[in-house]
Amino acid sequence: MHSFHYSKGQLCCEDVSLADLADEFGTPLYVYSSATFRERYTSLDSAFEGVDHEVAYAVKANSNLAVLRLLASLGSGFDIVSGGELFRVLKAGGDPAKCTFAGVGKTRAEIEYALKEGIYSINVESYEEAVFINEVAGDLGLTAPIAFRVNPNVDAKTHKYISTGKSENKFGIDFDLIAEAYERASTLPHLKLKGLQMHIGSQLTSVVPFVEAVDKVAPLAARLKETYNIEFFSIGGGIGIIYEQALASGAESWWSDQPEESRPLTPTQYAAAVRPALEPLGLKILLEPGRFIAGNAGVLVTRCLYEKKGTTKTFKIVDSGMHQLIRPALYQGHHEIVPVTEATSAPEMVDVVGPICESGDFFCQNRELAGIEPGGLVALMSAGAYGMVMASTYNSHPLPAEILVDGDQAHLARKRQSYQDLVEAEEG
Ligand code: LLP
Repeated sequence: MHSFHYSKGQLCCEDVSLADLADEFGTPLYVYSSATFRERYTSLDSAFEGVDHEVAYAVKANSNLAVLRLLASLGSGFDIVSGGELFRVLKAGGDPAKCTFAGVGKTRAEIEYALKEGIYSINVESYEEAVFINEVAGDLGLTAPIAFRVNPNVDAKTHKYISTGKSENKFGIDFDLIAEAYERASTLPHLKLKGLQMHIGSQLTSVVPFVEAVDKVAPLAARLKETYNIEFFSIGGGIGIIYEQALASGAESWWSDQPEESRPLTPTQYAAAVRPALEPLGLKILLEPGRFIAGNAGVLVTRCLYEKKGTTKTFKIVDSGMHQLIRPALYQGHHEIVPVTEATSAPEMVDVVGPICESGDFFCQNRELAGIEPGGLVALMSAGAYGMVMASTYNSHPLPAEILVDGDQAHLARKRQSYQDLVEAEEG
């Protein structure tokens, strides 16, 4: 599953002790496992063996250069959503010809950058955007490869902030309007209609909405291939991961005890479910996983500073918070919280909270936890996706350091910000 486990009472990432890393690099500290990244990429890639496909890792989930370099070395493509992400991918040795550029608000500068670098496709969110891209490409004397993003109006049954495939969401073109968008765009001289894209949401733990969306959109893909000779169909990302029981030794068997609806998807189940509709198309299938690749590959290590007992609550105050892992505050996201030194005491009911001056700054509320003691180290599990990338310096806390572990080696993938870094770009 993933590579975090206790060894002689100490939580380790692969063969490296998290306590040793905290001693050397301080806290808060993001720590990632290369082995997990490799395993996740390879398992998904091989589940689609026999189908012409490409895994385009969604850079937004974790865009550290060391992570991108690792994935590029495995042959990964990249799904980017900004000029900044393209810059990172290129810097990490990624191939622009394996990059797709998504997002509802691309600027002229970003479109020019992507076209000049020769990216595989721009995923377009409206006909108006296609007209603009046509104009930019014309000005550059280039042809822009594009795919429209279709909104299939399928309920992904996930948190409303990360659900994207319903017609009330801002994403994509309504299923009923998409054919017309292709028809109109086909007359624009500086565009090449290269594919079709969709993405219905994130952290899906059932295969059902994926199948519903693929079954609904595959006939459209077939028609577009016939009419415009498109070459790819991207089915987006969204595969959910296990956030609970992240350290349980028998995680696989724990899943199978769960009701079907709440069971996380394995790559094999996912591939088996969508293949029947995809295989007959004869199109290249793109996958855009972010969380599936990065989520379980990282933890956030923080130090417990204080315990505060009130009349109704016990608060454990740690040196990280919503500014460095916003998922609990923003999406009621659940992250397992475990002591880095294995607990020997009995669990107690606690809130684990950060230093930020907001009541929404908590990692958990009313949870039974053992071994969270002042002075001790604590790990927030499954924080590899949408953790550091969503971190801010709110309350002027410098950004944490990031470490990429490989076996018994620890690579400083990003050094901790200093106070000077905080003000570097400012003039006072
Ligand atoms: N493709 C597109 C077009 C996307 O918008 C996204 C994610 C992905 C792929 C990757 O989805 P994934 O495989 O990671 O589910 N910050 C939120 C998640 C936001 C997802 C945004 N789009 C969270 O922490 O839950």
